[in-house]
Parts: sequence; structure tokens; C-alpha cells
Amino acid sequence: MSQTINAALGTARRLQTASDSWQLDTEILLAAVLEKQRDYLHTWPDTELTLEQAQTFERAMQRRERGEPVAYLVGKQGFWDIEVVVNEHVLIPRPETELLVESAIALYQNRFNESMRVADLGTGSGAIALALANTFPRWCITAIDVSEAALAVAKANARRLRLNNVEFSLASWCDGFDGEQFDLIISNPPYVAPDDRHLEQGDIRFEPKSALIAEEDGLAEIKKIAQQSATHLKEDAWLLLEHGYSQAPQVQDIFANCGFQNIVCRQDLAGLDRMTQAQWCQCKL
Ligand SMILES: C[S@@+](CC[C@H](N)C(=O)[O-])C[C@H]1O[C@@H](n2cnc3c(N)ncnc32)[C@H](O)[C@@H]1O
Repeated sequence: MSQTINAALGTARRLQTASDSWQLDTEILLAAVLEKQRDYLHTWPDTELTLEQAQTFERAMQRRERGEPVAYLVGKQGFWDIEVVVNEHVLIPRPETELLVESAIALYQNRFNESMRVADLGTGSGAIALALANTFPRWCITAIDVSEAALAVAKANARRLRLNNVEFSLASWCDGFDGEQFDLIISNPPYVAPDDRHLEQGDIRFEPKSALIAEEDGLAEIKKIAQQSATHLKEDAWLLLEHGYSQAPQVQDIFANCGFQNIVCRQDLAGLDRMTQAQWCQCKL
């Protein structure tokens, strides 16, 4: 039997146990199946789905009922002013990570026309590197990841967005840099403690553990990045790192112990400590 858009939207409640945003999820999934914007659904509620569309929508709803993230089901996620393709090999870029991009722009907007060297460590889908590359076409950005599958997603996103000012490298943090020096190092590294109960809840269950988990209460990779970055930053260059909302004091200690100065924590839109920035200025000591 044929199904109208209105009838398809009427099945949204089946997602209630899987998602707090069940109505929105249903609209996003249906719009993706129909290859339309969401407002189309409310403008043309009596339009009938083809059999193929109805079956594709049903499969997507079943997967969402099992908890799979909407972004993986539709294969894309908005971030800053771009949209990136995502799959199960990459973390779904979070709105709070946009604070890293916003902070980089605030620090360097007067260097829009310069050929700055920037490194995005743990690029995943490429979200941070590509958002910066899009905002600053003259900047030269190196995007690093230790996951070959993640790097393939990031490279495909760069091609799709026609951004040529990003180069990609398969490496562990700064290991691949051959004496190179950067004006900015930016990173959203894994920082979730292995025993964090959030790992068993919601979308995060489906994301790569290697993108999320770090030893030493979630701080092990942050320590490595801070230590390694120190030898790859130019004088007065900044290191910007995202971290967990309760990790700011420890991150500040790590940065201070590595010799960084002007250490400042910034809060996300929810008012939570979300990232810390620090400057490498040895000559002024
Ligand atoms: C939290 S995800 C961030 C992804 C993306 N930057 C974002 O913000 O959406 C962390 C990323 O770091 C990568 N990663 C983990 N360990 C790494 C290492 N030792 N060297 C380089 N990348 C690493 C993971 O593969 C993952 O893509």
C-alpha cells in the first residue's frame, strides 16, 4: 500500500525510546530519502512515496530504532559553514568543536592574507581542517590522522568541497613532521576515560573507540600532543586543544609543565569548559 509523507512522519513515535529528538530525526531521515529539504515535507504532506522510497525509509527507521546515529544514516553532518560526509570510521563532528574554529579565527583574523602553516592533529572527517581551509584560502593546512580509513573520508571531503589548501598525512600526532614548524596547531583528540559510562549511551556507542578513548583518565593523548607540539610551533604560535568539561585544570597543568604561556580555557555554548589555548613564546622568558 502506498504511503504519503504525512503518514510516514506519523510513524515518528516508534523512535521515542531510541532518541530524545525523535520527530526531528524522522524528518531528517525522510528528507534524506526523498533528497529534499525538510520544509518540503510540510509543504507537500500528501505526496506519495514510491515503493523504493518507502522501503529505504523503513530501513533507516529500523536502524535508528536500534540507536544508529542519524548522521551515519544520512551520511553527512554540518560543521561551521561546511557539510562533511561521515561514516562509521570517523567521529561525527560536534557543535562544541566549532569553538576551536571560532577561537582560531579570533586569534588569527588579522592574518587572513598570510600563508600560515597550520596542523590539525586527529583530523577524522577533516571537519576542523576543512572549515579553516574554507575560511582562510591562503593558509596551508596539514591534516593528520593515524587511521587510514578516517584519512580517506577527510580526503574525499576536501575533494568534494574543492579545497586544495589542505594536505593529508598518515601519522601519529607530530611523528610525521620532519622539522616542520607551524603557526597554529589545533586538535580535538580522544579524551574520554576508558571507564566513562557515556561510552555505553546514545550515538557514541557507534563511533570508533580509537577516536574517543584515551588512557590516564582521558589525558594520555593530550599530554603527548602538548609535549610533541612544543618542538613544532613557531615563536608566538598557538596550540588549541579540545578536552572534556572536567579536564581544564589538568590540561592547564600539562600545558604549563611543557613550557606554554598565556594559557586560557574557553567555554562552549552550554557554559562548559571545552577547550584550552596556549602560546609558545620562549624568547620572552
Ligand atoms: C575526537 S576525534 C576528532 C575528529 C575530528 N577532528 C573532529 O573534531 O570531528 C580524534 C581523531 O584522532 C585520531 N587519532 C587517535 N589517535 C591518534 C594518533 N596517535 N595520531 C593521530 N591521530 C589520532 C582518531 O583516528 C580520530 O580521527
